[in-house]
Amino acid sequence: MSKLITDYEELKDQIRYHDHRYYSLDDPEISDREYDVLLKNLEEFEKNNPNLISKDSPTQRIGSAPVAQFNTVEHLKPMLSLANVFTKDELEDFYTRVNKRLLTDYGYEIICEPKMDGAAVSIIYEKGHLVSALTRGDGFLGEDITSNIQTIKSIPLKLLSSDFTIPDYLEVRGEIFISKKDFEKLNEDAKRNNEKIFANPRNAASGSLRQLDPKITAARPLSFIAHGIGEIQGLEIESVKEFFEAISKMGIPVSKLNKISYSIDDCLKYYNKILETRDQIPFDIDGVVYKINNLEFQNKLGKVSRSPRWAIAHKFPAEEATTEILEVSFQVGRTGVITPVARLKPVKVGGVIVSNCTLHNIDEINRLDVKINDTVIIRRAGDVIPQIIKVIESKRHNPIDIEIPRACPACGANVIKENASDWDVFDGDKKIKSLGSKQEAEFFTENHVNKDLILKEVKNDGAFLRCSAEYKCDEILKGSIIHFVSRKALDIEGLGQEIISKFIAMGYLKTAADIFKLHKYKKELYELEGFGEKSINNLIKSIEISKNIDLHKFIYSLGIPDVGESTSRSLASNFKEFKKIQDASFADLISIEDIGPKVASNIINFFKNDFVCLFIDDLLGNVKINKIKSPTLDEMPLLNLNIVLTGKLQKYSRDEIKENLLLNGAKVSSSVSKNTSLVIAGDNAGSKLNKATELGIKVLSEDEYIELLNDPKKFT
Ligand code: IVH
Repeated sequence: MSKLITDYEELKDQIRYHDHRYYSLDDPEISDREYDVLLKNLEEFEKNNPNLISKDSPTQRIGSAPVAQFNTVEHLKPMLSLANVFTKDELEDFYTRVNKRLLTDYGYEIICEPKMDGAAVSIIYEKGHLVSALTRGDGFLGEDITSNIQTIKSIPLKLLSSDFTIPDYLEVRGEIFISKKDFEKLNEDAKRNNEKIFANPRNAASGSLRQLDPKITAARPLSFIAHGIGEIQGLEIESVKEFFEAISKMGIPVSKLNKISYSIDDCLKYYNKILETRDQIPFDIDGVVYKINNLEFQNKLGKVSRSPRWAIAHKFPAEEATTEILEVSFQVGRTGVITPVARLKPVKVGGVIVSNCTLHNIDEINRLDVKINDTVIIRRAGDVIPQIIKVIESKRHNPIDIEIPRACPACGANVIKENASDWDVFDGDKKIKSLGSKQEAEFFTENHVNKDLILKEVKNDGAFLRCSAEYKCDEILKGSIIHFVSRKALDIEGLGQEIISKFIAMGYLKTAADIFKLHKYKKELYELEGFGEKSINNLIKSIEISKNIDLHKFIYSLGIPDVGESTSRSLASNFKEFKKIQDASFADLISIEDIGPKVASNIINFFKNDFVCLFIDDLLGNVKINKIKSPTLDEMPLLNLNIVLTGKLQKYSRDEIKENLLLNGAKVSSSVSKNTSLVIAGDNAGSKLNKATELGIKVLSEDEYIELLNDPKKFT
């Protein structure tokens, strides 16, 4: 082979290896920039040597032209489906059936896997090259989606090989899906571009796979995890586990959550653990799958109709359900935003009964085209509040339009349509930017090289409704006081929602600051039902205690829109004094890491409000904000250290180590530079380790990391 060709093969192999580390293992060894350089070199090479370009080159993923329709192809072995169980009893029945047929005295291994909620595919490699890919179809005939599968970066076009042989023929089956995060982003982009919204990640994944133009598929964030064995020639394997280990070495993604069990109790433990951690798993799963690990046992068990006897799906409670909209009411929140809430015919979803569901805003009502009496699909995933996903139009009967209120349902004041402006920035006649607030637009123009930009306000039909009465609306006042006394804010005990409503109605509370004057009404409080000496004294004591408050809690208690606990902490630790936050400019605010333009505008507008100014003056006369003390080296022994993690860490996960370092005051960066203080390196560390050695930066092993926590002085 000529040197040219060997260089080309080597470069492609290098990129394939890094693709695998990045897309399948989520553990890159080189920076994005270093990767880009490799890819650029390859592109350059191929430009100069077009006759050498091979189909399996990482540059050739979107090579094929659109097709008119997919060809139908027969699966060499049918793609079966799984029988389901929902309860422990049903699972025990499955186990009993297996035991009866296997009649083994030695027990057997069961491999437990998450059940990914996506679209099943079959991918075929001949001599290590991806040659074809099919949808599941009806299990016997699938559609040829090879060009689309080739666009998915985590699926190797050529299998990785090092110290083992690649089988002549390898059919891997698995699930194509879209991660929850990617799905959210996909729909956000679709919303922004006025395109169709996908109902859930599964529909988005299977829709993306069945695009006739591979360019469209390539633009969708599809992932793949293998879960099944198809036809194999030239490779001896005895178990599912062995299969997963082999294909994983070849660069094919396999779930890290797979686990061997030896009993039904182990299986149930696995089920419960996955169910509990479902929210943290980056993709949707609808249950777990148990399979007899040994392939000889699988053969012995065989199948019944279209399902194998050697596997079963243990499903989670459904996260989607169908119900009806009985009515829509409008709720006034503490920031004055009026939210439409659908009252539903109660239905069980995600394990709980749901009877209310937010419709968010007017845009959402229009987007869903939802009406009273409609039958809808709702979804409640994990801790996320229930959402209406879509209206089943074929079941529509007697639809009643949702009437948008013109008056606040709580106080009767006018309703304002909000978010009513975009600020467009023009360079001459050309629109160069559109921003959501005046501050953002002004900041943009002030910092632009061209000082003659023009700002134009564009009024839109607002999606959000707001009560115009501000804190004069009792519902807004009530919401803001509930927030003010809540645990993460002033933490005042003895002021529940009902009591707050009562005090507002009696005129004792006109702002949250009036809480500090409640002691004046001690006599009147005795007259109220449910109040005795003890409860009144406790309340007054709790109010007294709350007056000494940390800055971040004080900021949080004000209820600035979109300023939650973590933003409050950032504001406190960056500005140190309340006055400085009040006076901060837009530029000051957005220079803080977790504060974006929208939150910065909210903060500025909040402090500009006349009512808020009076309220804050009143508050500052009553509370004492504790001084922020800078952490000492004793509390944060790794303060001022800039640490980089690299390579495969064995004992602790990267996230665990990172969190521990941050808690101890260190900064954790992703790339090595001359500002790096230490590098913690696991196995197979690559270029970061080289760079650290080059720059003479101290490199620690995983064991030394523990020593670092115990005795930082040793390393600094
Ligand atoms: S095994 C015959 N394992 O669930 C067994 N399937 O009805 C073949 N699925 O079509 C499938 N995660 O799309 C298996 N860990 C997993 C799975 C899984 C998701 C899907 C697959 C299949 C359906 C079963």
